[in-house]
Amino acid sequence: MGGKPLHFSLHFSALFYCKIHPFITGSGRYLGGVPIGINKITGQKEFINSFGNDEYRPPNYNMAIFGIPGSGKSLAMKLKLSREMSVANHYQAIIDPEGEFVKVCNRLGGVNLNIHEESNIVINPCSINYSDIPLDDKDDEEIAELEEDDLREIIEKDGKKYLRFVPIKEKIGEILGFFDIVVRGTNDPGIDVFERNYLEEATSHIITNVLKITTHPDS
Ligand SMILES: Nc1ncnc2c1ncn2[C@@H]1O[C@H](COP(=O)(O)OP(=O)(O)OP(=O)(O)O)[C@@H](O)[C@H]1O
Ligand SMILES: [Mg+2]
Repeated sequence: MGGKPLHFSLHFSALFYCKIHPFITGSGRYLGGVPIGINKITGQKEFINSFGNDEYRPPNYNMAIFGIPGSGKSLAMKLKLSREMSVANHYQAIIDPEGEFVKVCNRLGGVNLNIHEESNIVINPCSINYSDIPLDDKDDEEIAELEEDDLREIIEKDGKKYLRFVPIKEKIGEILGFFDIVVRGTNDPGIDVFERNYLEEATSHIITNVLKITTHPDS
């Protein structure tokens, strides 16, 4: 593939491979997803379906690629994200300190955000938005935090019903966690109970009284 691996992955689309090898995986079942490589033990073509489908969900969505320097880890990652974006309808967000994904991002029509101390783009850990949680997902942590009289909306997307609300409690918890990490540094014990309560009250005051944000998505 030389220096142009991405052209290869984009122009010979994953669908092409799915069509010629439709049911082959190491596990003996084709579970959807995009082609990722050849299994060196079985010789079979392997597919990866990062988030599963309606019939099958992986126990969790984490993965890691290991290999000696120059063995193709970055290329594998580029193939995976190009194929998933092209044919699996996935969005990708990459933290890329060395800028090695800038080219692939441009070729896939993505946006490169240059975030550093002097740039005018910031990541705001306090920003807050609504969540859409499937109505049948009773185990969701954000729903568990919702009080009975908290405002919410039921919306419909692609024939499925979702509960839409602003997860204020969850957000306050995240903000506390964020400050805890900032304070903790390398050896500080982090924020104590008093600071935690004070910060929780202050954050809640800003969100509810100053910004007038409620759990209703329109707020
Ligand atoms: N399957 C492959 N076929 C042909 N060339 C490949 C393949 N995989 C990777 N390469 C080429 O090998 C070189 C090293 O690959 P890559 O940069 O992906 O390795 P890496 O494991 O990320 O390396 P590093 O540890 O240095 O980050 C690149 O030029 C890449 O295009
Ligand atoms: Mg690499």
